[in-house]
Amino acid sequence: ARTVERGADGVVRVGGIEVTRLAEEFGTPAYILDESDFRARCRAWAEAFGPDADVFYAGKAFLSRAVVRWLTEEGLNLDVCSGGELTTALDAGMPAERIAFHGNNKSDAEIRRAVETGVGRIVLDSFQEIVRVAHAAQSLGVRQRVQIRVTVGVEAHTHEFIATAHEDQKFGIALAGGQAAEAVRRALSLDGLELIGVHSHIGSQIFDMAGFEVSARRVVQLLAQVRDEHGVELPEIDLGGGLGIAYTPDDDPREPHEIAKALRDIVSRECEAAGLATPRISVEPGRAIVGPTAFTLYEVGTVKPLEGLRTYVSVDGGMSDNIRTALYDAEYTVALVSRASDAGPMLSRVVGKHCESGDIVVKDAFLPEDVAPGDLLAVPATGAYCRSMASNYNHALRPPVVAVGDGQTRVIVRRETEEDLLRLDVG
Ligand code: LLP
Repeated sequence: ARTVERGADGVVRVGGIEVTRLAEEFGTPAYILDESDFRARCRAWAEAFGPDADVFYAGKAFLSRAVVRWLTEEGLNLDVCSGGELTTALDAGMPAERIAFHGNNKSDAEIRRAVETGVGRIVLDSFQEIVRVAHAAQSLGVRQRVQIRVTVGVEAHTHEFIATAHEDQKFGIALAGGQAAEAVRRALSLDGLELIGVHSHIGSQIFDMAGFEVSARRVVQLLAQVRDEHGVELPEIDLGGGLGIAYTPDDDPREPHEIAKALRDIVSRECEAAGLATPRISVEPGRAIVGPTAFTLYEVGTVKPLEGLRTYVSVDGGMSDNIRTALYDAEYTVALVSRASDAGPMLSRVVGKHCESGDIVVKDAFLPEDVAPGDLLAVPATGAYCRSMASNYNHALRPPVVAVGDGQTRVIVRRETEEDLLRLDVG
C-alpha cells in the first residue's frame, strides 16, 4: 500500500499508524487495507478510461459493504458473479444499473433476481442461459440488457499467451465453428433480450498486452460479422479484467493510463479497418485495484532451523487466509515490521499452522537471522483473492479486514469467532 512507511526505529506505519498498534488493537492475522490507496486506484482507472468507457470492479477479488460504498462514491461499476455478491452490492447501495452479472452456471433464482432488481447487464455464458434469461425477462415483462461472453481462443498466462483454435475450458461461447455468431443470432431473435455487445476475458495476472490485442481484434471481427449478417452494430465490447500487479520486484505492471491507451488504440484501429463505429469499451479489473492495497499482518509463533536447508518460520495463519501460494505456486515477499534488525539475512520459508506441509505462505524469503516468536511479519499485495478465497480449514477463524485511512482505523469485515463456526453446525 502506498502509505506504508518504515520509520528510523524500524517500525512500519500505515497511514501514520504503527503496525504494532494495529496488531494490539485488532489481533493477528489481519488484512490491513489502505482505503486511500483503494480510492486512488479507482480514480486512476476511471480517469484513464474516461467518460466514453466503463470500469467495472471485479468483486470476486474482494467484496464487502465498505468496498461497495467506495466504488459507488468513486464512480465505478461492479461486476458480480454470484447471488451472494449481488446481495452485498445491493445491500450497500450500488445502483443496480451499475452492476454486471457474470457466471458460467447462474441459477434460475439468481437470474430472476438479477432481472427483477434491474442489473445493468447480464453476461450470457451458454446457449441454455440465453433462453433462461430471455424467459425470466419476458415473465417479468422487461427487456434485459445482455452481453455474450465469447471465447476468443487466446489462452493468457502470466507473461505469455498461446493462441489455440479451441479453448479447453468452461467459460463463454467459442468464436470457433461459428458458435458465437449463432449465439448472437439467437439473442437478437428473443424479445426479452437487448443485446448490447460482446464480452471477452482472457485470464488473470497478465502483463503482456498482446493477448488483449488478439482478443480485441477477434471481438471486433465478430461485430463486423454481426453487422454484415443482421444489419446491427452492437454498441459495446467488454475486454474483461486480468491486468497484473507486482507481487515481487521482478513484476512490472502497466499503469491504468497505459492500459487504457493500448486498448483504445487497438479497438479503434480494428474498427476502422472493419468500417465500424468504435463501440463503447468496458473493462473489469479486480486484482489491479484491490491487490496492492492490502497486506497481511502475522505474528511469528515458532522458528525451526533445518540444518543445510532453510529455516521454517511459522505464523498464526496460513493457507486458510492465503491459498494462492499452495494453489498457484504464487510468489510473495515478506518483511519483519515490528522492529528494526541488523542481523544478517537467513533463508526462510514462511509457513502457516495448518495440518499439511503444502501450507506455505512465502516459499523463499530472506528474514533477519534473529527473527523470533512474537515478531510481526507483513506479506504485501494480499488485497485480491486472499480474504475472498479464505476458508475455515482446520476450523481456522477467518481474519478481519481493517481499513486504514486518514489516520483512522476501521474494521470493515470482522474476525470470525468460534460462535460463528458453531452457528452453522446445527447437528
Ligand atoms: N472479469 C471476469 C469475467 C473474470 O472472470 C475475472 C477473474 C475478472 C474480470 C477479474 O480479473 P482480475 O482483474 O482480478 O485478474 N483466484 C485467482 C484469480 C481468478 C480470476 C478469475 N476471474 C488468483 O488468485 O490469482
